[in-house]
Amino acid sequence: MFALSEEHRQIQDLAREFAREHVAPGAAARDKSGAFPADVVQQLGELGFLGMFVPQDLGGAGLDVLSYVLALEEVCYADASVGVIMSVQNSLAGWPILAFGTDEQKAKWLTPLATGERIGCYALTEPMAGSDAGAQQTRATPVDGGYRLDGAKMWITNGPQAGICVTYANLDVASRHKGVCAFIVDTTTPGFRVGKIEEKLGLHASGTCELVYENLFVPKEQLLHAERQGFQVAMATLDGGRIGIAAQSLGIAQRCLDLAVAYAKERKAFGKAIAEQQAIQWKIADMRCRIEAARLLTWRAAWLKGQGDRASAECSMAKLMASETANFCAYEALQIFGGYGFSKEYEVERLYRDARITTLYEGTSEIQRLVIARSTIG
Ligand code: CAA
Repeated sequence: MFALSEEHRQIQDLAREFAREHVAPGAAARDKSGAFPADVVQQLGELGFLGMFVPQDLGGAGLDVLSYVLALEEVCYADASVGVIMSVQNSLAGWPILAFGTDEQKAKWLTPLATGERIGCYALTEPMAGSDAGAQQTRATPVDGGYRLDGAKMWITNGPQAGICVTYANLDVASRHKGVCAFIVDTTTPGFRVGKIEEKLGLHASGTCELVYENLFVPKEQLLHAERQGFQVAMATLDGGRIGIAAQSLGIAQRCLDLAVAYAKERKAFGKAIAEQQAIQWKIADMRCRIEAARLLTWRAAWLKGQGDRASAECSMAKLMASETANFCAYEALQIFGGYGFSKEYEVERLYRDARITTLYEGTSEIQRLVIARSTIG
């Protein structure tokens, strides 16, 4: 695939226009205040960007994974905090319900996610289950008509705002991943509460928190897929989530490159623009090469995931390359800006902080390498 179709180009243009006009202008202020961008999220819902895979008859846009990647990169180019809200809503909350839900579950839960009426989140990580996701300690106890959940999750993106939370809990902690079940939890249910809200290095406008489950009743109709199949739901969902973080990383990286080029053409040293100095030219060339390579991997992963194949290694390759590229480009852009890049007056300072999480969440770079190596070595 070397060129986008006309339809994909139109989606990219629409997202670019929207993001530059409506998302970018408030990004610096939101970074400072940490305010959740409720107005922008509502507009994303109206555009169909919160339910990109959800069929149109359920209120979504009914588009493919590549369309999602193209739109998400544009939103993240403007503000990566807004981008991760969109990414979690589509990839981590909506997708597992679409892929594993019954018709009744899809009809009930996907429309409010697609329209943005309710924010979605994905609750897998626990204090002692981060990279080792199979070590789930949150308990699911079977009771009449459903299950009782007890435990705590942490680092949950969209958690403070979420109305719908795809939650993983274990029927039998001793059997590790083989006891895990996935549940659709309505956060208005008694026994659910938002715990500690994290103060973070970057992505200030996206909420991240602890979630606490205390004797929370979930009806059996809200079990997603089958009992003890939750780990497969979690992992298949993360494959797609990693494509979303790759797209987010591309948006950050491209913004770094564009800002660095503009500045290098303007800033003079030793009697000429620094863009004419080879030291700067090589940085620009390396940034562009890495971005374009990561973008091709991301588009391929999106296409493969869209075919319905398991594409874990390809998703991990895209995420690894794109997230490391975002950090590389943020570092080099700041270097090109010199001391100005260290100042909060310049956008590269925010990009540098926002880029940092991309090699950590939805699987660290080390976990992506583990997935790729296992698939390569067998
Ligand atoms: N799709 C479907 N099934 C999968 C799968 C996939 N991608 N990956 C694994 N599985 C299945 C396996 O086939 C296996 O099934 P069986 O029991 O039937 O054999 C089962 O799951 C267990 O697989 P592994 O033996 O590979 O499991 P493991 O314990 O070695 O763990 C891991 C594998 C890749 C390390 C996994 O634990 C992992 O991805 N860890 C990282 C977790 C992560 O990314 N967390 C991010 C949290 S979410 C987040 O950040 C969201 C946010 O808020 C933005």
